[in-house]
Amino acid sequence: MLDPLLRKNFPSDFLWGGATSSYQIEGAWMEDGKGPSIWDVFCMIPGKVANYENGNIACDHYHRVKEDVSLMKSIGLQAYRFSISWPRIFPSGRGSINQKGIDFYNSLIDELVNNDIIPWVTLYHWDLPAALEFEINGWLGEEISDVFAEYADACFHHFGDRVKNWITINEAWVVAILGYGHGVFAPGKKSNDLPYQAGHQLLKSHARAVDVYRKKYQSHQKGQIGITNNCDWREPLTISPEDQAAAQRALEFFLAWFADPIYKGDYPEVMRQNLGARLPEFSPEEKKLIKGSSDFFGLNHYTSMLASNATELPADGSVYGNGGLSEDQHVNLSVSPDWNMTAMQWAIVPWGCKKLLQWIADRYDNPPIYITENGCAFDDQLIDGQVNDIERILFFREYLKEISLAIHSGVNLKGYFIWSLMDNFEWAQGYGKKFGITYVDNDLNRIPKASARWYKEVITMNNEQ
Ligand code: GAL
Repeated sequence: MLDPLLRKNFPSDFLWGGATSSYQIEGAWMEDGKGPSIWDVFCMIPGKVANYENGNIACDHYHRVKEDVSLMKSIGLQAYRFSISWPRIFPSGRGSINQKGIDFYNSLIDELVNNDIIPWVTLYHWDLPAALEFEINGWLGEEISDVFAEYADACFHHFGDRVKNWITINEAWVVAILGYGHGVFAPGKKSNDLPYQAGHQLLKSHARAVDVYRKKYQSHQKGQIGITNNCDWREPLTISPEDQAAAQRALEFFLAWFADPIYKGDYPEVMRQNLGARLPEFSPEEKKLIKGSSDFFGLNHYTSMLASNATELPADGSVYGNGGLSEDQHVNLSVSPDWNMTAMQWAIVPWGCKKLLQWIADRYDNPPIYITENGCAFDDQLIDGQVNDIERILFFREYLKEISLAIHSGVNLKGYFIWSLMDNFEWAQGYGKKFGITYVDNDLNRIPKASARWYKEVITMNNEQ
């Protein structure tokens, strides 16, 4: 089953990992002093999450650290990316620390380190303390960057002796667009303007946390810190110059929105032109703080779409799929009828991943890149105690082939994390959408799928000397 292309086809120091996030797997939502997060609250609102599901128990990872780390070990993961639940550390978002939260992450980090698995830690994977939503208007409030910097400081202080890889924020685009534009993720706001304001505070908060790390910790802890952004590829629908410009514009409104300030010092020009005063401005000091504030380029990538120039939006007012606020971009998105779909109805387009990596390398001067998430949901079935997820293996095989081609053509890609180590709470879709290489049954037993065995083989083959 293992494609010869994948044998020793990656650099010997390439990092192979798996990823999860706190709200999606931990459970223990009210235990040991944890405060509520905006996702705890969001899940209580009827109609927000499929089948009224929530993360109250999730995969019960909070009580199964040893079992889960030994699962990682058995799959051969070299690195594990997880996130810290902010309201477990600061139940009210700021102020006094919850020691039991610190103890929990200490035990997880120790278990990883003792098993030679490198921790990669995300500070914010969407579970904002609910107190901060009420008190300072969450990611819209001017105070949020101070509060985020305090929280980050506490994490560096308590965990930075063992954690050498930090990600400040996971997917600012999703937080801004789905949380403040479409309103389908917490905190559920629907607006055409708020996403740009939230995005602005997210960038400032990221930069403040990095500043704390660099000034107080990096020289002796000797770690690296960056941000993870998500982006789908946008392929021009036709070769017309208008459609090519539309695809480029769509990428700038998606990824460059968050990456340009970090690598170039300000938002892309096209966003300024199209949005005018709706796009906030950075002060000169803020620009200085943000520019250069990432030691690596974290990328989450799942799918691709076709982009065409929109002279007018579709008559029914809809834009297919994951479009951002498409009316601001003058882009129509569609998918090719030839493309196969995952259970999320996301198209499987492996070459889109290679093109995106090349686009990043070209635009940002070939930075070190880590793919911090890539994966797919399928309708997995447990039959006789086994999950034979051939479609997932094919997905990973084809994406990894394209990724290895990107590396061979000079892209500085240093590592790859599968989303996800195990089936988990897939946000508004609940538990029905399964992304894991490990199946989690109704009794929360972990059952590695065929893809877990395949991934183990890939890791082993590529690391043999
Ligand atoms: C990402 C997110 C993950 C996971 C994945 C699959 O956007 O960071 O938490 O849900 O998508 O949808």
